[in-house]
Amino acid sequence: MSVSIQARHIVKKFDKTTVIPDLSVEIKNGELFTLLGPSGCCKTTFLRMIAGFTSIEGGEICFDGKSINNIPAYARDIGMVFQNYAIFPHLTVRKNIEYGLALRHLSQNEIKKRVDEILSVVKIEEYADKMPEKLSGGQQQRVALARAIVIKPQVLLMDEPLSNLDAKLRIEMRGAIRSIQQNIGITTVYVTHDQEEALAISDRIAVMRSGTIQQVGTPIEIYTRPSNVFVSTFIGRSNLLYAQRAGEDELKFGSGFRIRVPGIRIPQNENRVIAAIRPEELSISSGDGIPAVVKTRTFLGKYVMYEIAFPGEISVPDMPPCEFSQDLGHADHLLDIGDQVFFKPNTAKINIFSSDQMTNYALVR
Ligand SMILES: Nc1ncnc2c1ncn2[C@@H]1O[C@H](COP(=O)(O)OP(=O)(O)OP(=O)(O)O)[C@@H](O)[C@H]1O
Ligand SMILES: [Mg+2]
Repeated sequence: MSVSIQARHIVKKFDKTTVIPDLSVEIKNGELFTLLGPSGCCKTTFLRMIAGFTSIEGGEICFDGKSINNIPAYARDIGMVFQNYAIFPHLTVRKNIEYGLALRHLSQNEIKKRVDEILSVVKIEEYADKMPEKLSGGQQQRVALARAIVIKPQVLLMDEPLSNLDAKLRIEMRGAIRSIQQNIGITTVYVTHDQEEALAISDRIAVMRSGTIQQVGTPIEIYTRPSNVFVSTFIGRSNLLYAQRAGEDELKFGSGFRIRVPGIRIPQNENRVIAAIRPEELSISSGDGIPAVVKTRTFLGKYVMYEIAFPGEISVPDMPPCEFSQDLGHADHLLDIGDQVFFKPNTAKINIFSSDQMTNYALVR
């Protein structure tokens, strides 16, 4: 039976260094929940705390509301899949998958039935009697997945399971993992630092930074309404321009161009805010808009990505260059390097952050 997971005010220390100061999150029964964040933000550490492979210095982790802090790793009933598949090279695929079941003293009949079932779920029946070295990376990762789920664990933990695979196989395997996970309905905590993978595979995502959770939400919520500037730049690209508060729902850019953002309420004491505009949310306008100059042009098939400069604007420092992406399905002509254009942001999609980068006023409306 699958369970829900609660982390309540958990603390992790390595020696005297606190790497997770106070982390709380609830993972629902049956969902695929992704931990996403830059290297070193404690994704693996949190996963290992759930598995019981590393100690907890404060707070508690619960399955279905019951603390598991004092339950040893082997008794937590968890399936795990890692980056390096960790399958036994000297055992056939079938023997690899049987391994966890044999430890559980099931009958030979029961073992064969469960292994056959899982081989078909992960679509590797034809390789059952092969040695792992005869399989491709993706097939080996399917074996690792089969081995983790054949024991019917309460929770499945996956730590960057696709990072050793090439780009094409990664996309194929993430689809396979998603459909297998939904098929068997197992609560899954999935770790990646690949934002596209997280968006594609997850029911919900927790964006992490330095041992803290910055935002929890569905992929669409996180992409369209990031809770702060860090999330808006970690997931997808955002052009970040300073703007003045010209009214409760009105902004004035450095160039003098004004926009109204219906429904938003910028507090009176915020005279300078940050407008975050995704590259696909700009459109070329004739005559009015934010003046820009095209710096580079990159053809990417379905769309063209332009690096642009906004001469009249102040950008947030230490961010990548501003970009405009032009969908070729709708473009009547391409821009050239050096072209001067005006851009209008899509005011329904724009996010407005406080000057300290921590609040999205589009979320508190
Ligand atoms: N055994 C350990 N002893 C001391 N510090 C550790 C140990 N394991 C992890 N850390 C530290 O804890 C922090 C989080 O590490 P962790 O491996 O959880 O990051 P991560 O988010 O999984 O990163 P990556 O994407 O690179 O895998 C890092 O600062 C790391 O140096
Ligand atoms: Mg890690």
